Amino acid sequence: MSVKALLVPEKLPRHVAIIMDGNGRWARKRGNARVFGHRNGVKAVREVTEAAAELGMGYLTLYAFSTENWSRPKNEVDALMALLVSTIASETQTLMKNNVQLRSIGCLDSLPSKVKAELDTCIKQTANNTGLTLILALSYSSRWEITQGVKRLAEDVKNGRLEISAINDQVFSSYLETREVPDPELLIRTSGEFRISNFLLWQIAYAELYFSDILWPDFRKEHFYEALLDFQKRERRFGKTSDQLILKK
Ligand code: IPE
Ligand code: IPE
Ligand code: MG
Repeated sequence: MSVKALLVPEKLPRHVAIIMDGNGRWARKRGNARVFGHRNGVKAVREVTEAAAELGMGYLTLYAFSTENWSRPKNEVDALMALLVSTIASETQTLMKNNVQLRSIGCLDSLPSKVKAELDTCIKQTANNTGLTLILALSYSSRWEITQGVKRLAEDVKNGRLEISAINDQVFSSYLETREVPDPELLIRTSGEFRISNFLLWQIAYAELYFSDILWPDFRKEHFYEALLDFQKRERRFGKTSDQLILKK
């Protein structure tokens, strides 16, 4: 039986975030340049997006390029940017077909103008789609996002638009890139690395973490379903005891 058939629709997470990792190693294993791995990672993006859309999920956030990734060799960064341009252009029709709305988070002003233009076009074109919201994290890091949020919040306090006593975690969340988006309930990282690498630090406060050994270019729908099935077996206690949760049922 397919793992998909074992999933309980009412228990699916509303929002899944993925750290897509392992492209370079996938290419190296085949004696190819790292860029080859990035190119082959596009199929996995397509598969996971389609799977999430088919399952009726609300949000899927993909970590595509971190603030720290700017420190990679110039040829790799250039190739990744070119790949972004061509992929966004070629995938727009599929997003339309699957009723997917594209959004992005990150320091978009730091992206080359071609990437920004292609991204803007796709975001506008898909804006009225009502199915899955696909969020690309580009030139994103959580500490950058939090620092930006703190600056805007401080500005509002200074100008009298916000009382210090009114600041709580909801108010603070509204200063982040992810405002209006519910926190991810599940965070997946591929390639056998056990770290967060500056991704959604605030938002994953209570997310379930799932680590897969699969290198990103090999990640397929079936692997995604396995992660979701694992998620459905977890007991999410939010600080309470197991007994309290059973009593509530
Ligand atoms: C993830 O794969 C893609 C990006 C970070 C852009 P990597 O390029 O990090 O691949 P590994 O981790 O070196 O194998
Ligand atoms: C995290 O992967 C960033 C993305 C997937 C875009 P990295 O490969 O850059 O992370 P580290 O450097 O191994 O922590
Ligand atoms: Mg990596």
